[in-house]
Amino acid sequence: MTRIFSGIQPSGIPTLGNYLGALRNWAKLQDGNECIYCVVDLHAITQFQDPATLTQQSREMAATLLAIGIDPVRHTLFLQSQVRAHAQLAWIFNCVARLGWLNRMTQFKDKAGKDRENASVGLYAYPNLMAADIHAYHATHVPVGDDQRQHLELANDIAQKFNHDFGVEFFPTIQPLIMGPAARVMSLRDGTKKMSKSDPSDQSRINLNDDADTIALKVRRAKTDPEPLPSEAAGLAERPEARNLVGIYAALTDTDHQGVLSEHGGQGFGPFKQALADLLVEKLAPIADETRRLLADPAGVDAILRDGAARAAAVADPIVAEAERLVGFLRA
Ligand code: AMP
Ligand code: TRP
Repeated sequence: MTRIFSGIQPSGIPTLGNYLGALRNWAKLQDGNECIYCVVDLHAITQFQDPATLTQQSREMAATLLAIGIDPVRHTLFLQSQVRAHAQLAWIFNCVARLGWLNRMTQFKDKAGKDRENASVGLYAYPNLMAADIHAYHATHVPVGDDQRQHLELANDIAQKFNHDFGVEFFPTIQPLIMGPAARVMSLRDGTKKMSKSDPSDQSRINLNDDADTIALKVRRAKTDPEPLPSEAAGLAERPEARNLVGIYAALTDTDHQGVLSEHGGQGFGPFKQALADLLVEKLAPIADETRRLLADPAGVDAILRDGAARAAAVADPIVAEAERLVGFLRA
């Protein structure tokens, strides 16, 4: 059986980008695989989080994952900070990864912005922790959105160097699973920018807890161009905003860009946006309702996470202990 690992930061309300690029695939992959899914709060604090808000958002993220159908009994759902193995292996990886490798990470450059000197050291070392998340479980397949591709390549470089330095075949190669026509959902205000939970403009994204009216309004106001939709996918090439909305529609109806255009090509954005808003409400409203229902019992969500952490630690602890032995740490 294939062991799958993935993570999401509790740094805000999950967006439609998180859902279509990652979370929906997490749910689908549960059939026939062993899945380990993690709310990565250690990653979240690489940029300052108000403590009370972080606690609440971690619980809310877990509830959202349960609401989209992650099964915490057949699979494992937990909070990163509750399993010590992640930070322990990350330290070893800090000493394996090279500065030159991390200097190439485009996400660090984006997130640090112009004031790089003032970014946290954690933000810089973030990909090493991400590599530790995956390798602590000897996971081989990692479902993520397109923006994480470079981090997964780095995780493979780290594993390879560790294996080489210590003369072992200990950490396996991992495969990214970047799936579907919405592996990179763009901002509704700017088709060249990724939709993000941390974008200052709420109009740029659809949150998984937006109500029907908010969704309809955001879609109606989404930036587009004046042309009608093309009837061939090639016609989307120079039209990032149109391409984004068609990609979202395609993912929600389990088809591709061409599948949507065969039905809606030639249509103006008025009617297409209306159809898209209806579809989004139909798919997202049940998730928001179920998340709210779960959060009415916070202790219940916390208990699921505690149980998940115990099961995650049972897998990760022996693997990280072996990595420590390979490094040469004296063990009783
Ligand atoms: P994050 O919100 O950065 O913790 O990301 C969690 C998961 O959602 C990762 O697999 C990301 O690649 C994915 N993701 C985040 N934003 C988008 C987006 N705009 N489009 C597609 N996938 C995304
Ligand atoms: N860095 C990922 C993101 O922001 C989240 C993440 C942390 C992750 N650890 C991971 C994803 C391990 C996959 C596997 O999207």
